[in-house]
Amino acid sequence: MRDLLRAPWSLFSVLVDRAIESRAHFAYERMIGHAYQFLNSNRIVGDYLEFGVYRGRTFRAAWRRIKKMGRADHLYAFDSFEGLPETTGVDVGPLFHGGKYAMSLAAFRQCVEINGLTRSRYTPVVGYYETSLTEALRSEIPLRKASLIYIDCDLYSSTKEAFEWIRPYLQTGTIICFDDYFTFSGDADKGGQRALREFAEKYPEFSFLDWLLFGWAGKSFIVNRRGGLS
Ligand SMILES: C[S@@+](CC[C@H](N)C(=O)[O-])C[C@H]1O[C@@H](n2cnc3c(N)ncnc32)[C@H](O)[C@@H]1O
Repeated sequence: MRDLLRAPWSLFSVLVDRAIESRAHFAYERMIGHAYQFLNSNRIVGDYLEFGVYRGRTFRAAWRRIKKMGRADHLYAFDSFEGLPETTGVDVGPLFHGGKYAMSLAAFRQCVEINGLTRSRYTPVVGYYETSLTEALRSEIPLRKASLIYIDCDLYSSTKEAFEWIRPYLQTGTIICFDDYFTFSGDADKGGQRALREFAEKYPEFSFLDWLLFGWAGKSFIVNRRGGLS
């Protein structure tokens, strides 16, 4: 029933998509466009990973670029499809609470399966990261190195879990976009800022080159992995 009530989002999404495509006026749309220009120009091959997909706004933007550029990137959607987990400790803040952004997998599929995106081109990985991002998952999905990673899961705890899991897929030239780098009033001890800093301290073989700012809260980085391109 809940899905049926949300079904109009699917039609709405198609109309919004058409409008956005011709006039890339949203910051995330421009950011993703720049990212794929960078990836194409540098001949970087890999897959698209998004952590926090909700109703597929940025997921569709990535697909539009992949399709337009004729790239082979497979798209992976990592989400609970039940909204944010309960927030505790450093994740408590004015913007986020448990259950916010709840959207079922069926409703997500309705939103993104437009403009030629078929099920053979994308894979949802369902569940809270704490339980879904396992070692076993690595052999269950044919994920290649990451070309673009879009982090939109809002919380420090979620971003930390995502980072621990993606480590083997990072290559020099992987672009990481944080949709919410400057939320929590820009507090460097919260959210994505803290997760990235701690990851870089823990794994010194990686460095993260400041790249583009986008919107009021977004920031992107270029991964450098010591030892070259792989
Ligand atoms: C702001 S929404 C994403 C918006 C989406 N990128 C878009 O453009 O429509 C945040 C998403 O992160 C997901 N999320 C956050 N923390 C999570 C966790 N620990 N495990 C699974 N999903 C999580 C939520 O379910 C929610 O769908």
